[in-house]
Amino acid sequence: MNHPVQILDWPCSIKLAMMQLPVKKKHPRRQEPGPPASLEFCVHFPEVVLCLVEKRMGASRKAFLTTLARQRGFCVEDANSERVTHVVSEGNSGDEVVEWLKKKGRHYIDAVADCPALLNISWFTESMSAERPVPIEPRHYLLDALQTMAEEAHFNGSEARSLAFSRAASVLKSLPWTVKRVQELHSLPCIGEHSRRIVQEVLEDGASAEVERVQHSERYQAMKLFTKIFGVGVKTASRWYQEGLRTLADLQVHHAKLSKEQQVGLLHYDDLNTPVERSEAEAIGQVVREAVEQCLPGASVTLTGGFRRGKPTGHDVDFLVTHPTEGQEVGLLSKVISWLDKQGCLLYYSSHRNTFLDLEDLELWSSSSSASMMDRFERCFSIFCLGCLPGALQRGAGAQKPSTATWSPGASRSWKAVRVDLVVSPYSQFPFALLGWTGSRNFERDLRRFSKHEKKMALNSHTLYHVEQKIFLTAASEEEIFQLLGLEYIPPEERNA
Ligand code: UTP
Ligand code: MG
Repeated sequence: MNHPVQILDWPCSIKLAMMQLPVKKKHPRRQEPGPPASLEFCVHFPEVVLCLVEKRMGASRKAFLTTLARQRGFCVEDANSERVTHVVSEGNSGDEVVEWLKKKGRHYIDAVADCPALLNISWFTESMSAERPVPIEPRHYLLDALQTMAEEAHFNGSEARSLAFSRAASVLKSLPWTVKRVQELHSLPCIGEHSRRIVQEVLEDGASAEVERVQHSERYQAMKLFTKIFGVGVKTASRWYQEGLRTLADLQVHHAKLSKEQQVGLLHYDDLNTPVERSEAEAIGQVVREAVEQCLPGASVTLTGGFRRGKPTGHDVDFLVTHPTEGQEVGLLSKVISWLDKQGCLLYYSSHRNTFLDLEDLELWSSSSSASMMDRFERCFSIFCLGCLPGALQRGAGAQKPSTATWSPGASRSWKAVRVDLVVSPYSQFPFALLGWTGSRNFERDLRRFSKHEKKMALNSHTLYHVEQKIFLTAASEEEIFQLLGLEYIPPEERNA
C-alpha cells in the first residue's frame, strides 16, 4: 500500500492506522448456524458454569457460542446467576467486563477479587477444542495491568508516564491476536521497558505484584472513586484524600466541600457511571435536534465522540451544533438550553461562552504550545433526564422531572441521568471541531503531535495553522484536513486508539 508520507516512529495510533496493522477492523460476522433450540444437552462439567459477555461479542455470536458450549457438555448461565464461575468475553477490558456484569446485577464482583474468573475468548476456544475446561493460564486473563498503571500515573500527575502506559495498553488492546509470550512484544510499537516488564510478569506469574500493589492501595481506590464524580478532577480528588476522605459517604458528610456541579455528580453517581447505550444516545439526539430546529431552523446537530466512532456505549453523549450561515449560531445555545429546560429535560447544566476575541487571538493561541488539547467553543455541560423527554420523543411513558429536594438515590424511578455535552461551532471551523470532538483522545493527541513535528502545523479543534508560513489553512471537510496533513483519510471507526 502506498502512503503519501513515511511511517514514523512515535505517533502511535497514526502509525498503526497508516500501516493498517493492528487497528482492529469490524468485519461483518458470518451467520453462524446453531442446532434446533429444542435440543437438550447433558452437563459433563458441573463445577464449571460459564457466562458469555454479549458486549462486543454480539447477540447472534453469543447464541452460537452458548449452543456450542452446551453441546460440549458445558453449563452456560446468565450473568446474574450466582453459580457462574467463568466469565468469558471478547475484545473487552477487565473494567468493561466488570461494568457489564454490574449492569446485569452482579454487584459484588470487582476486578481484584478472583471469583469468578474473568477470561478472554482464548480460554473458551481452547476448551471447546479440547472438549473439556482447560486449566486457566495467565494469558487467559484480561490484560488490564497497563491501564491500571496509566491511571495510577495520572492520579500522581505524571502525565508522560501515564501516556506511555496508555499507549502500550492501546496497542495490546488493538492486536487481532492474544499475546502469549513476551517475545511477541518486540515487533510492536509503543511498548516501553516498564510496560514490557509488567506484561512479562502477568504472562509468567498470572499477575504483576506492582500492579496488585497499586490496585490494593488506599489512595488509588479513593482516587478512582472520587474522579468518577462528575466535576471532580485529579487535584480535587487528591486534596480530599489528603484531608482524610475515603468514601462517597465521607463526601456526603462533608457536603459543603463540594461545588454545585460536584453535588449533582454525587447525587447521580450510579447513573453517571453506568454506560450510556447507543439507543439512549439516539433518543437524546432526537430531542436535541427538535430543540435546535425550534430555535434556529436550518442548524445541524451531529453526534460526535465515541458514538461517532461506532462504540456501542459511552460515558456521555457529545453533540456538535452549527449553522451553514456563519454568525447565525451566535446566541443559539442559550435558546436551546432554555427550550430543553422548559420541557423538563435537564437535571443540570452549566454553559460556557466562546472565549475567542478575534482572529489575532486565535493565531496567538494556535501557535502556543498549550493549545493543542483544549478548545474554546461555546458549550454546555449538562445532565439530561432520560425518561423525562417530551411527549412524542419519549420511548415509553414519560416521567416527571425529579425534584432534587424530594428524590434520593435508591428510590424507585423510571428515569436515568445521562451526561450530555453540547458544543457550538462556527461553520468555517466545523470540520476541525468534528475531527477534534470525534476523538479518541489518544488519536487526537497523536494526530496533533504528527502535525506539529512532521508538518510544522498546529492542529486544534478550531483550525490548522501553518506555524512557519503563519497562515490558517481552510478545510471544508474532515477529508480535506487529512489531505492537508498528507495522510490518507482515517474513518471514525478506525480512530479508537
Ligand atoms: P469524551 O470525553 O466524551 O470521550 O470526548 P469519548 O471518546 O466520547 O468516550 P466516552 O464518552 O468515554 O465513551 C470526546 C472527544 O472530544 C474531545 C476529545 O478529543 C474526545 O476524544 N474533547 C473532549 C475536546 O476536544 N474537548 C473537551 O473539552 C472534551
Ligand atoms: Mg463521549
